[in-house]
Amino acid sequence: LVARVSVAASTPYEVFVGRDPDLGEALAGAAEPGVGVVVTDSNAGPAHSEAVIRALRDLGWTVAGVVEVVAGEASKSLATYESVLRELARLGLDREATLFALGGGVVGDLGGFAAHTYMRGIRLVQLPTSLLAMVDSSVGGKVGLDLPEGKNLVGGFLQPAAVIADTAWLDTLPDRELSCGLAEVIKMGLLAGGDYYRALELLPAALERDPEALEALILHAVGFKARVVAEDEREGGLRAILNYGHTVGHALEAAAGYELLHGEAVALGMLAAAELSYRRYGADLRSEHRRLLRAANLPEDLPELDAESVLEAMRRDKKRRSGEHRFVLLREVGEPEWGVKVEEPEVLEVLERV
Ligand SMILES: NC(=O)c1ccc[n+]([C@@H]2O[C@H](COP(=O)([O-])OP(=O)(O)OC[C@H]3O[C@@H](n4cnc5c(N)ncnc54)[C@H](O)[C@@H]3O)[C@@H](O)[C@H]2O)c1
Ligand SMILES: [Zn+2]
Repeated sequence: LVARVSVAASTPYEVFVGRDPDLGEALAGAAEPGVGVVVTDSNAGPAHSEAVIRALRDLGWTVAGVVEVVAGEASKSLATYESVLRELARLGLDREATLFALGGGVVGDLGGFAAHTYMRGIRLVQLPTSLLAMVDSSVGGKVGLDLPEGKNLVGGFLQPAAVIADTAWLDTLPDRELSCGLAEVIKMGLLAGGDYYRALELLPAALERDPEALEALILHAVGFKARVVAEDEREGGLRAILNYGHTVGHALEAAAGYELLHGEAVALGMLAAAELSYRRYGADLRSEHRRLLRAANLPEDLPELDAESVLEAMRRDKKRRSGEHRFVLLREVGEPEWGVKVEEPEVLEVLERV
């Protein structure tokens, strides 16, 4: 069964979620068959690009080539971006071409930024293959790169023409990466509350890769993200709530030299946010956070890092405004506050406590 979620962004599109979705149906209305290029990485490509290319050719597409980058966050770099752009040029792609980003969030962000800027922009179709990409990064139009100075410091907005999440792709995803996707699922469930929050009881089944549990959680997450993006596409306000757990999470990722996976860093960042939320608003969601993270097999302890170096990384975060740290906190499940100022001594205290 394939479900679809509409994203009412400035250029609306649909997200298809399910096992073996009909690519033709999903692309109808989004992109007429023409010239396409597949950008992927060294894990998703070998596992899934052949089937995608075959399906596209059956639909009348000309696949000019496959651009494969090395798997991993390090490929969200200016150097890899340059090599992708030059490959697109060598393949002779013009303005009418469509870029299919087949991979996790790295491929989606990197390929998306290439699509955004190649010849001032070509069509982008997101084919997310990691759970994190399916529930979060493929939806909403943020594309970009990292710099050695920090994550996501280069970027833009490009809404995809369509997002197609074939849950069969998850069959080859490593368990640790599945848990990382569940971290973003938990994040949005805590922000959304209601039915979505209650559906987090499906986490153990999703961890066991039960298809119905996974699909239900993906649909909740995509539906929630779509609503947030429709209301605040360019992050003037509300969209900032999606950074729950990310203020500390991004800093941890940087301070750990990217050894900590994004979802794991976010999991730990949410524990810090829960601690701060308790101090600010009195709602004690700390053990609930730990229960949910445990259900998704996510870490609950900070690796051997000193709080100072984490704080140092936080100071470099682009979301920090004029010397203060801004957090997304929870008054309650389903009641986020964003832009909450927290002074450094308190951040340090919380980091040490968590
Ligand atoms: N644009 C956004 O709105 C947004 C939102 C959240 C995160 N992100 C970005 O997304 C990135 C993290 O995404 P990610 O966790 O998907 O990382 P990733 O793209 O590195 O994928 C994780 C790992 O799983 C592998 N993989 C992916 N799909 C696979 C499959 N089906 N089978 C086997 N292996 C597979 C990848 O090769 C990689 O090794 C970060 O760079 C983060 O900044 C962007
Ligand atoms: Zn994230």
